Parts: sequence; structure tokens; C-alpha cells
Amino acid sequence: MKLAASLLAADFAHLARDVARVEGAVDLLHLDVMDGHFVPNLTFGPPVANALRSHTRLPFAIHLMIERPAQYAREFQVRPEDSITIHVEAADPPERSLCVIRDLGCKAGISFRPGTPLEGVFPFLDRVDLVLVMSVEPGFGGQAFLPQALDRIRALRREIGSRPVEIAVDGGIGPGNVRSVIEAGADVIVAGSAIFGRSDPHAAAVELWTKAGHTRRS
Ligand code: DX5
Ligand code: ZN
Repeated sequence: MKLAASLLAADFAHLARDVARVEGAVDLLHLDVMDGHFVPNLTFGPPVANALRSHTRLPFAIHLMIERPAQYAREFQVRPEDSITIHVEAADPPERSLCVIRDLGCKAGISFRPGTPLEGVFPFLDRVDLVLVMSVEPGFGGQAFLPQALDRIRALRREIGSRPVEIAVDGGIGPGNVRSVIEAGADVIVAGSAIFGRSDPHAAAVELWTKAGHTRRS
């Protein structure tokens, strides 16, 4: 298992401080980029993500909830261990966006809304490093986990077969359900409120490892 801390639930006025708090207890930083079109919310874009680079050694998992990922992906300063994930429903054709991301030299991911048929991502499984299963409607943190995501994780796991593609799951995951998400077949757990919504984000991340039945290796 890998654990990704979603900055959406962090204090935007103290991002570097909040990142430092979880640095030793998570594997990735999950950055939710929203454009007010693809989802009815606005967060931050490349300037904020790039400014955070010098404050952490954690890889970035950039989740683009925007209509034009092919247009904006190049503005993120990425490293080979980072990933940029687009949505299959975005206005830019996924084929084009994934090519742009590959050219940047980082990992490429594809995601889809809870209401989008799972089969919609199957044509891209040979072109991505990860699939991000949304277990809430994208746009906001702190929503309840949609249990139908568990069946989608299992079906996706079967379809992926032996391909080197990770399954990440995003939305509504906390100490009470992290184990069921892992048991369904997730490789990467994304958690926002369950980490940064707590008074001690480091302890909250450690609790997620424990509840998942894993020991944090570090
Ligand atoms: C929602 C975002 C998630 C969000 C998850 O659109 O993609 O990454 O931060 O937040 P929690 O863990 O609070 O559901
Ligand atoms: Zn996300």
C-alpha cells in the first residue's frame, strides 16, 4: 500500500508547514487542481504546485479536475516519480493529454467520475501507470465514501490483469473503511480530511496505516 495525503484538506495559508507535518508518514502528496468548469470548485494551479517543490521530497500526484489538461499539464514542473492524472470526461481528448504527460517524463494516470462507466477507461490501460477510482463526486473534500467504488476496484483489478498499472482510490477514505478499500484491490489510498482534518495529521496518517493492516516502511 501507498498512502497519499490530499492537500485539499490542508491549510492553504500554510501548505509547506502542513506538508512537513506528514512528510515522514505518507508516500505521496496528492494535489487537487480544479478549474471551476470541470468541477464546480476552484483550488490552485501550477504556480502553487511548483512553489511547493522545494519544501518537500515527497513525489507529487497531480489530479487534474480541469477541462483542458493537454493545455496546462506542461506548466507543472515534474520529476519521473511524479504523476499527472487526467479525467476521461475532460474536454481535451485523453489520448492527447496522455501524450503530453508522457513527454514530460512523469507517470500518467486516468480517472473517471462515479457515474462514468468503468469500461470508459479500459482503452487507456496500456497507456497509463495508474487509474484513479473516484469514490466521491470530484470537486470537494469531506464527502461520504460511495460503496459501489469497491466493486469497481475489483472489476478494474481483473481487467488490469498483469499490466503494470496501479489502482489509486480517492474520496471519503478514513480509518473506518481503509481496510475494505485495500482488500478490494487498491494500491494507493488518497486521504484528505482523514489526515489534514485532524489535529495531528502525522498521527492520523499513522492510524490509517494501522487500520489498513500495514506497517509503514520508513
Ligand atoms: C475530491 C478530491 C479528493 C479529496 C478527497 O474531488 O479529488 O482528492 O481531496 O478528500 P477526502 O479524503 O476528504 O474525501
Ligand atoms: Zn483528488
